[in-house]
Amino acid sequence: MHDKSREAACLVLAAGEGTRMKSAHPKVLHEIGGKPMVGHILKEVEKLGLRKVVVVVGHGESEVRERLGDGYEYAEQKEQLGTGHAVMAAREKFIGFGGDLFVVSGDVPLLRAETLKALIEKHRGEGLVCTILTCRLKDPTGYGRIIRRSSGRVWKIVEEKDSSLYEKVVEEVNTGVYCFDSTALFNTVSRLRNKNEQGEYYLTDVVKLLSAANAGVDSLLLEDAGEVMGINSRVDLARAQKVLQNRIAIRHMENGVTIVDPANTYIDSEVEIGRDTVIFPFTVIEGKVTIGAGCEVGPFSHLRTGTVLEDGAEVGNFVEVKKTSIGSGSKAKHLSYLGDATIGRKVNIGAGTITANYDGVKKHPTIIEDGVSIGSGTTLVAPVRVGEGAVTGAGSVVTRGRDVPPRATVVGIPARELKRKNEKKNKEDTGR
Ligand code: UD1
Ligand code: CA
Repeated sequence: MHDKSREAACLVLAAGEGTRMKSAHPKVLHEIGGKPMVGHILKEVEKLGLRKVVVVVGHGESEVRERLGDGYEYAEQKEQLGTGHAVMAAREKFIGFGGDLFVVSGDVPLLRAETLKALIEKHRGEGLVCTILTCRLKDPTGYGRIIRRSSGRVWKIVEEKDSSLYEKVVEEVNTGVYCFDSTALFNTVSRLRNKNEQGEYYLTDVVKLLSAANAGVDSLLLEDAGEVMGINSRVDLARAQKVLQNRIAIRHMENGVTIVDPANTYIDSEVEIGRDTVIFPFTVIEGKVTIGAGCEVGPFSHLRTGTVLEDGAEVGNFVEVKKTSIGSGSKAKHLSYLGDATIGRKVNIGAGTITANYDGVKKHPTIIEDGVSIGSGTTLVAPVRVGEGAVTGAGSVVTRGRDVPPRATVVGIPARELKRKNEKKNKEDTGR
């Protein structure tokens, strides 16, 4: 029983509709930190390197599968008759598997891999058959309560709707995260009945059945209740977003990034930021964005997916950047849209510069080479290239395909090359 080489797998419950979200989309796909709730869970679960991860899908099945991709096995729960029923629906995926099985609700997005590790350590260390992750809440409303025998051992879990007044005051709650001996679990779920307030097959009733049979059931009490908050409504979603935002900010600050006001800075979970970079308030960084060392971002910047800032680059007020790389030491400090662009080193992007990347049908690239100076209010109609060291005058419109040669200066609408005085003179002299 204490065999650490036992196999482990995970079952994620993601078939419910999430009625309380009042949404056309399945609950588990609602996002925090730019990623669906269930995506956060799967990312943590992946860190454990388990033999198998199965996701139970049902409500909005195709949408969930499409969003999560082919990296997982899916079990279909045709009707959503409760969490115990969801486990039943996955049973055949575990034929021949006799190890430990994590069962995790798809709506606890802040759960960390470390916690799952601690759970299985206790489970295995004490040779348990069922280990429930619990926490204490001053206001446990809505959660299943952990009811213990007078000996202190876990007896059963009682759902809010089925609970008595005495049970309602219990502060220790079920987080919806468990580790089971898979054989015991599948043998027991088939015995569940739905005689309860909600007429559902509750996974939580497995606990009562196992403890009645004197099988080893216990809990691991988690100190940080914020980590296991279940998301049932949009209000919960916003709370979780705050917690995640803070967690992400702390990670970057610990890595040497200054975030002037973490409460008013929105950084998605996949963003990477180098040392000594300063992020000023009211900045939104979403999707996959990589920021180098010693950069300055914000206030009021919007960096979207595919943005790369190389070391020392600066992006300021009301600048939106999408799928664009900005070379080291380059600056775009005010009022710009930079999309599908490749910007070299030591480039200055003047206030109000726009890369007009979209012709109504397709997106086109803009290339701005090293040392270019883009004058205020320049519009660059893509596809277009501005050669090394070139200059565009204020308010110029560089039209599509009319590349600006290196070191040239262009002005006006449409932008034309401005010949320097001595260049003109040379031409006159040679009669050209
Ligand atoms: C559940 C627990 C409760 C616990 C709480 C923690 C049960 C009966 N209750 O309640 O003790 O305190 O989580 O957050 O388990 N799902 C399916 N198929 C279904 C029903 C649900 O896949 O038929 C999935 C949902 O998508 C969701 C998860 O199971 O991800 C939990 O379901 P939910 O309805 O949110 O359960 P709670 O009422 O929150
Ligand atoms: Ca829930």
